[in-house]
Amino acid sequence: MSALEIRDIRKNYGAVETLKGIDIALESGEFLVLLGSSGCGKSTLLNIIAGLAEATSGDVLIGGRSVLGVHPKNRDIAMVFQSYALYPNLTVHRNIGFGLEMRKVAAGERDKAVREAARLLQIEALLDRKPGQLSGGQRQRVAIGRALVRKPQVFLFDEPLSNLDAKLRLEMRTELKRLHQMLQTTVVYVTHDQIEAMTLASRIAVMRDGRIEQLGTPEEIYDHPATLYVAGFVGAPSMNMLNATVNAGQLAIAGSDARVAVPVRFKDAVREGADVIVGVRPEALRLASGGASEPAFPVEIDVIELTGPELVTTARIGAQRLTATLPPRTPLAKGEPCRFAFDEDALRLFDPASGKAL
Ligand SMILES: Nc1ncnc2c1ncn2[C@@H]1O[C@H](COP(=O)(O)OP(=O)(O)OP(=O)(O)O)[C@@H](O)[C@H]1O
Ligand SMILES: [Mg+2]
Repeated sequence: MSALEIRDIRKNYGAVETLKGIDIALESGEFLVLLGSSGCGKSTLLNIIAGLAEATSGDVLIGGRSVLGVHPKNRDIAMVFQSYALYPNLTVHRNIGFGLEMRKVAAGERDKAVREAARLLQIEALLDRKPGQLSGGQRQRVAIGRALVRKPQVFLFDEPLSNLDAKLRLEMRTELKRLHQMLQTTVVYVTHDQIEAMTLASRIAVMRDGRIEQLGTPEEIYDHPATLYVAGFVGAPSMNMLNATVNAGQLAIAGSDARVAVPVRFKDAVREGADVIVGVRPEALRLASGGASEPAFPVEIDVIELTGPELVTTARIGAQRLTATLPPRTPLAKGEPCRFAFDEDALRLFDPASGKAL
């Protein structure tokens, strides 16, 4: 039995289809990240799971039981929002325990649950303070504490870290990961930050325009993107995408003289004369050591940017561009001709018409 099952969920606002048939089944303890750009329907889906919005059609099952028509507070879920609105006049202790207080949980039991959550979140020393006396990260912990004390079957998070500055986001991300490893509760987490998705998720659902473009583990999404959209969305700098044509067993890179062999595993998937898009991640490229047998793209260096740990190098390949992340002290100069080598396994091919991986 799945901990959470979403069956063919559709949502229309008037004539506008916001969700166009979403199917996901989660095992207990999974950490699912809904990843996608603004407006693709992430929050709408989360709100439907929570019971804060109603689906036009489809079903949501929590612990094998349909929750359609079940009030949010009876769904055995807890939600943490981006704006974590704490009660300013109540102490941290009462903010965390507020949901339990409303349910008339006895004071002793409530205190125990609040202290346990505070211990997990390392905010025990702050229990007597008011929200106004806390930092942003501490407030976010209190909001998570409020969800924790309910010991729900499923946690729902809607961009919980997006109000925090970059350093704090990183800290809280690690904290959330630690918490999930400890508690093993099923989580659905919404973000448009692909690094957050890669680091936190056991599976990622990349959403686009009301549909799931690809559902898979972070490794699957990163190494084998099913579509050009996923390939471009996940990874920074983005995967290089070169227009090419299949010509006599070779990929002829458009607008240049460059030719590389069609990797053997694609031999049956491409036909002579077909247009394809060649995908290769910047970190899969290296400076060729000189051996002519090594597969490589001939390029001319254009822009060199040192980020610290790596040199982000943009080069011209005829009329197209190719970015490589190289070791920081690679000797390179603008305008210099060189060769970016790669392993054949690193090449991805896409059909430009459908956008699908071959
Ligand atoms: N109450 C509503 N009435 C009409 N359209 C709505 C309503 N709520 C959301 N939408 C539309 O549905 C689409 C999906 O919205 P949703 O809030 O789910 O996006 P999102 O993926 O969470 O985006 P973001 O990353 O910006 O939060 C958007 O185009 C939005 O304008
Ligand atoms: Mg949203």
